[in-house]
Amino acid sequence: MTAGIDDISIYIPRLFISASDFAYARGLDIQKLENGLGISKMAMVDTNQDPACLAANACLKIMQKNNLSPKDIGRLYIATESSFDESKAMNSYVIGMLEQVYGNESFEHCGGIECKFACVSGSYALYDNSNWIRAGEAEGKYALVVVSDIAKYDLRSSGEVTQGAGAIAMLLNDQPRLLQFDPKVTSTSIKNEYDFYRPFGKETPIVHGQYSNLLYLIQVKKALSTYKKKVFANGLIKLKHDETILDYIDYLNMHLPYSNMGKKALAYLLRHEWRNLSRWTNIIKKIKMQEPTPQNVKGTIESVLADSDFMKNDHIFTKLFVNTREFQDVYESKLASSLIASKIIGNLYTASLYLGFRSSLEFEFQKGVDLADKRIGFGSYGSGSSAMIFSGVIQPEYKQIVKDMNLEMEIGKRKKLSLEEYEEIHENKRNVDENILDSKKEFILIDVKTKNENHGKRTYKFNE
Ligand code: CAA
Repeated sequence: MTAGIDDISIYIPRLFISASDFAYARGLDIQKLENGLGISKMAMVDTNQDPACLAANACLKIMQKNNLSPKDIGRLYIATESSFDESKAMNSYVIGMLEQVYGNESFEHCGGIECKFACVSGSYALYDNSNWIRAGEAEGKYALVVVSDIAKYDLRSSGEVTQGAGAIAMLLNDQPRLLQFDPKVTSTSIKNEYDFYRPFGKETPIVHGQYSNLLYLIQVKKALSTYKKKVFANGLIKLKHDETILDYIDYLNMHLPYSNMGKKALAYLLRHEWRNLSRWTNIIKKIKMQEPTPQNVKGTIESVLADSDFMKNDHIFTKLFVNTREFQDVYESKLASSLIASKIIGNLYTASLYLGFRSSLEFEFQKGVDLADKRIGFGSYGSGSSAMIFSGVIQPEYKQIVKDMNLEMEIGKRKKLSLEEYEEIHENKRNVDENILDSKKEFILIDVKTKNENHGKRTYKFNE
């Protein structure tokens, strides 16, 4: 039995901070944000929004667009790392909000949980729900998988430039109009790590930035190696002499904590995939530099990062490599379109990978490319840490979904926050009802109880 994504919707809060204002306020070179990290705007939540609101708004959009009623939905899963309760799952809040529109107990038949594994949990939720469909348990109903996050780092920390907020809802079924997942190739890697984590009661994570960058690359490479074994074993792709699996992936979507991380990941994976192919000999001739190797043979991430000569030379080598025509051709044809949305929205943690997918669909379609039958590869990473590689094929009916995609229209008119407003919201100095924007036809948070037996209880309403 088949399974895949039938439709996809996004909800992005309309407040943002601009990279130039931010760079000025923090005394950073704007080139670092715009060129080094690939960030021009970061979406921010208003005082009356939380990750459950974002998720409910994305769900409502996809249900209304497809004229679905709650009885069409069999499962509602939410993947997030911005959880605000240790016990009550975020999908229960979302169902509560949706029932304000669709009627009390209208989702009673529906199952689902909140999933956690940093940014990769949305991919696990997609995989598990696809298998629910493949197992024939869906009884003709859809699974709704929602990825929703507020990426928030401490003020003046190095992660502060990689924030953002938003939710993406994906409708899964056995006859998807958009993307059918390749069966029996989904591959994972997992290891107990402390690259990025958010202990109980802390609103922002503890981050080891450069460690997390390198760990992301290593984990994704490991998952890719398992993916290759599975793909070759089940005959999905057959390589000819001097080819790599990436030659058979038409588009690549990577987890994007910031848009340039996608480019870094592509460069890293291509270096490993091309190293033993004849094209690499030509590239090395052009670059006029041998690929550096770490002097310290311990092989730990710490020892690699501490090897300053290696790190410096590897950085130079990577820069030379990404400037070659060979790299640029792959970058422009397989990856670049997926990075556009991330530049103007920022980090969505669990939703970043799927924002990239959404971006790639819209901007490739706009170029006039026929996307039918194209194979899409996904590289998912979650700190802590786990990676997942999987793939799927765009279906003949995809135009029904992609033709109306328009990121700017879907976000709506955005409002730039002053740095003062941003810091007030960031530090929770404004009350829930001291919101900056008025919202219509959206779910908003109206109260969070702070006392006694109702401590932490949240109330939401649908703003007509
Ligand atoms: N002009 C142009 N470019 C500049 C520049 C300037 N003046 N100054 C720096 N740059 C470039 C650097 O060369 C670098 O580019 P390359 O990576 O291509 O070399 C880029 O800008 C970033 O510079 P640094 O690495 O020096 O920046 P930093 O030390 O401040 O750290 C960061 C960047 C690690 C991403 C940090 O913002 C951070 O910790 N972010 C949060 C953690 C994170 O996003 N980790 C990513 C992997 S983990 C993950 O993916 C899970 C998740 O979602 C969090």
